[in-house]
Amino acid sequence: MKEFFICDCHLQENKVITSSFVVASKQVKPKKNGEPYLALTLADRSGHLEAKMWDNVVEFIDAFEQDDFLKVKGLINKYKNRFQLTIHKLRRMEEAEIDYADYLPKTSKDIGELWQTLGGFVATFQNPHLKALVEMFMADSEIAEAYRNAPAAKSLHHAYIGGLLDHVVSLFRVCDLVSGNYPQINRDLLLTGAFLHDIGKIRELTYNRSFSYTTRGQLLGHMIIELEMLQEKLAKVPNFPPELKTLLEHLIISHHGQYDFGSPKLPMFPEALMLHYLDDLDSKMEAMRAHYSRESELEGPWTSYNASLGRPLLDSRKFLQNEKAADAKADAEQQGEQSPAAGESGQPSVSSLTPDLFSEQKA
Ligand SMILES: [Fe+2]
Ligand SMILES: [Fe+2]
Repeated sequence: MKEFFICDCHLQENKVITSSFVVASKQVKPKKNGEPYLALTLADRSGHLEAKMWDNVVEFIDAFEQDDFLKVKGLINKYKNRFQLTIHKLRRMEEAEIDYADYLPKTSKDIGELWQTLGGFVATFQNPHLKALVEMFMADSEIAEAYRNAPAAKSLHHAYIGGLLDHVVSLFRVCDLVSGNYPQINRDLLLTGAFLHDIGKIRELTYNRSFSYTTRGQLLGHMIIELEMLQEKLAKVPNFPPELKTLLEHLIISHHGQYDFGSPKLPMFPEALMLHYLDDLDSKMEAMRAHYSRESELEGPWTSYNASLGRPLLDSRKFLQNEKAADAKADAEQQGEQSPAAGESGQPSVSSLTPDLFSEQKA
């Protein structure tokens, strides 16, 4: 059993820990005096941690690679407001010592419940062809097993075991809500597109040791793999209308919305446009949530630069809380100056009458 998880760094600040990690990245860099040092990103299921090994690294440089598992002893400390690990000792772990569940992040939601929710939506389909098609995918045990476990992306969003299913269930909910507002939208077609749009990730990505691309995934991408999977299943659905097949194919190949993002075609009918925007929305909302969660220990409301969104983020909750705390402090100081007995008067302070802006927004 792993002794220490990265999410517990705040409990071990300035202490020496011994634990095991997977190597997410490895670089050998020169120190000012020209000697090499190791700059690693270590990971476990709870997060990532930058780690440096400064001294006597020559014997370790070729001892392990990215995606290997290491037993590490080192000091947890903070550098530029972030935790890091200064490694004193390390060794590569043997296969028999590794419990993969300790290293791959996994959805905190119940995968069985998510799968049932998905099935519940499909049960409401009015179009018998689309219903038969999606049910055939869900009844394929090899596909179902992979769909329940695959991440939705290697690193950008929903990058955890169960992430694909989590993303698609969330997308189903949003598609269901938004399609109700636009009578021209064929809900079954949109939801079938949502079910299929990233199904190729189950073959594009590997997620046993770490998250990376299969050779086929790297060379073809998930959209081409999806067309192939669709073709294979449609061959078994009797009398599937060819027009519907063409629309599904377009939903798949246009869902990234822009040529720059790998779509060979731009979305050309309402369901395709809606799928693109809602997919983009769902993935970005999750990317933001995960970034705030990773940086929850930072005091200020600004996060570091988010590579997938291409900008730093403002945590609006923290921002409003800080404003409120500053107001309360200013009020307390003012009251203290004006009337030393004000706090005993039984009157609420101005700050306690200030509405909580965030809960107002939510309501
Ligand atoms: Fe995609
Ligand atoms: Fe997606």
